[in-house]
Amino acid sequence: MIGENKVLFSGMQATGNLTLGNYLGALKNWVSLCDEYLCFYSVVDLHSITIRQDPAELRRRARNLLTLYIAAGIDPEKNCLYYQSHVSAHAELAWILNCFTYMGELNRMTQFKDKAAKHADNINAGLFTYPVLMAADILLYQSDVVPVGNDQLQHLEITRDIAQRFNAIYGDVFTIPEPYIGKAGARIRSLQDPSKKMSKSDENPNASIYLMDDPDTIMRKFKRAVTDSEGCVRYCKEQPGIMNLIDIYSACTDKSVSEIEKEFDGRGYGDFKTAVGESVVAILKPLQDRFDDLNKNKDHIDKIIKENAEKAEYYALKTLRKVQKKVGFPERVR
Ligand code: TYM
Repeated sequence: MIGENKVLFSGMQATGNLTLGNYLGALKNWVSLCDEYLCFYSVVDLHSITIRQDPAELRRRARNLLTLYIAAGIDPEKNCLYYQSHVSAHAELAWILNCFTYMGELNRMTQFKDKAAKHADNINAGLFTYPVLMAADILLYQSDVVPVGNDQLQHLEITRDIAQRFNAIYGDVFTIPEPYIGKAGARIRSLQDPSKKMSKSDENPNASIYLMDDPDTIMRKFKRAVTDSEGCVRYCKEQPGIMNLIDIYSACTDKSVSEIEKEFDGRGYGDFKTAVGESVVAILKPLQDRFDDLNKNKDHIDKIIKENAEKAEYYALKTLRKVQKKVGFPERVR
C-alpha cells in the first residue's frame, strides 16, 4: 500500500522476442488491472545482463518493450512505466536483501537450475541472486499484488519469505505481496512441444508466436501446431496440444472452456486451428499498429521515459530510506 492506494508491480525482460505467452500470461492482465491499482511496470534490464547481451541490441529491445507496454493500453500518465536501471534503488535494496536471503533458498530455485544448465559457460553470481533483485523490485513499491505467469510463482514465494523475515526483525517495513494469476493464459505452451512453456529463447521459431509476427506467419504457425490423433476438441491432459490451443483461444476471446468445446463439437482440427489463429491476429494486429504509431513520435516516448523514472524513483526512495535506517546505516546529511 502507498497511502490509500493498493499497489501493483510487475516487470518483463527485454531479451529475445516477446511471445504470445508474455502477452497472455502477463501484459494482458496488466492492462485489465490498471484501474484498480497504483501500477509500476518495469523493463527489468538489470535482470537481463545475467545472460550476456549485445549492448546496442539490449537498449533497442528495452525501448521497444517500454513502447509496447503503452501500445498494449497502459496509460503512462496514470501508471508508472520505466527502466529498472534508471532507478538505482533497485540495486541498493537488492544488496541489503541479499544479506537476508540464504544460499539454500536460492539453490532450490528451478529457474536458476534451468538457466545454469542452458548457460553452463556463464553461471554468474547475478544469475544465482536473480530472485533477490526481483524481491527488491516488488518490495520497493510496497506492492500488494504481482501479476505473473506460473513460471514466476516460486520467485514470488521467496519474495514473501524474505519480506516476512525482514519484518520479523525490524517491524512492519514491507507489504507482503500476493501473486495474481489470470484466469486463462497462465502457462502458454510451445506449439511444437506442449510439454514445454512457450519461450522467447526457443530455437524452433515455429514453437512460439512472437508479438510482432505478421498475420500470415501467425496462421501458418497455428496450422503447423502439434496436436494428436483423437480428432476432437476437448480439454484433457491426454491432449496437451489441444489443451494449449484451447487456453490460447479462451484467453483471446474470453470464452470459457466448455463454450469452446461446444463450439467445435464435431468439427475438425483444421477449423479449430484457423479460429485460434484468427483470434490471435485480432489481438496482435491492433497492438502492432499502435506500436508503429507510437514509434513515429520519438520525443513523446523520451518524455514518458524521463517523467516516469522520476515518479518511480520518488516512491522507491521512500522505502529504501526506511530500510537503510532500520538496518543501521548512518543518517544522510545531504
Ligand atoms: P519474463 O520476462 O521471462 O516474462 C514476463 C512475464 O511473462 C510471463 N510468461 C508467461 N506466461 C504464460 N505463458 C508463458 N509461456 C510465459 N512466458 C513468460 C512470465 O511469467 C512473466 O510474468 N523475472 C521476470 C521479470 C521480473 C519480474 C519482477 C516479474 C523481474 N522482476 C518482479 C514480476 C515482478 C521475468 O524474467 O519475466
